[in-house]
Amino acid sequence: MKIIKAKDYEDMSRKAANIISAQVILKPDCVLGLATGSTPIGAYKQLADWYKKGDIDFSEVSTYNLDEYRGLSHDDPQSYHYFMRENFFDHINVDLNNTHVPDGSNPDAAAACSEYDRIVAAAGYPDLQLLGIGNNGHIGFNEPDDHFSKGTHCVDLTESTIQANSRLFDSIDDVPRQAYTMGTQTIMYARMILVVANGEAKAQAVHDMCYGPVTPECPASILQLHTNCVVVADEAALSLCE
Ligand code: F6R
Repeated sequence: MKIIKAKDYEDMSRKAANIISAQVILKPDCVLGLATGSTPIGAYKQLADWYKKGDIDFSEVSTYNLDEYRGLSHDDPQSYHYFMRENFFDHINVDLNNTHVPDGSNPDAAAACSEYDRIVAAAGYPDLQLLGIGNNGHIGFNEPDDHFSKGTHCVDLTESTIQANSRLFDSIDDVPRQAYTMGTQTIMYARMILVVANGEAKAQAVHDMCYGPVTPECPASILQLHTNCVVVADEAALSLCE
């Protein structure tokens, strides 16, 4: 694991965008694994700015997102489909036909998840997988558990995740209780993993991810076993790693 310390959120976002940009320049038809949440928004904005300046071209890139709430339609403003268009896809020249997010609108969890596994495998898995980390150490929506997950599956979100994500909804009761998420094993198939984290609330999870025991109680800890994992975090998120 390579840990890169950023001064603050802006610095973290620029550094992460630089790494993603290098991937796209080196391999224009690369497969990017993408994340939602607050943390990557600055990196997406930076990449969109570079696209507008003509520095980066996404026309051949394909993308696979980590997760989606179960039960939300693609045009629901709280869905991750919507989030990705609003924060990234609508600002770059990616072909929307080459962007993929698990189908939360499909109530048949087994069918939605196995179809997602099939298309991620057919794409050859991400060249670069971008990850945020939950306060409880989750990656994607792989919550603390007694085993590591494998392929895409339906999860019950933990109270801590529902609480953390409620800031984006009118009320906590509106937060969906289930999501479809890429599994931990699939995440580990990515050839490079880039984790972004900022703020004090992530300090314990970042510490446990980098230096704790490898345990499904902190799903991100498995990234210690990945041969090409880079963590870009600000000083606050790294404050327990000194
Ligand atoms: C989102 C995802 C989640 C988030 C994590 C951190 O697609 O997979 O694991 O990355 O919950 O969320 P933020 O960035 O909002 O703190």
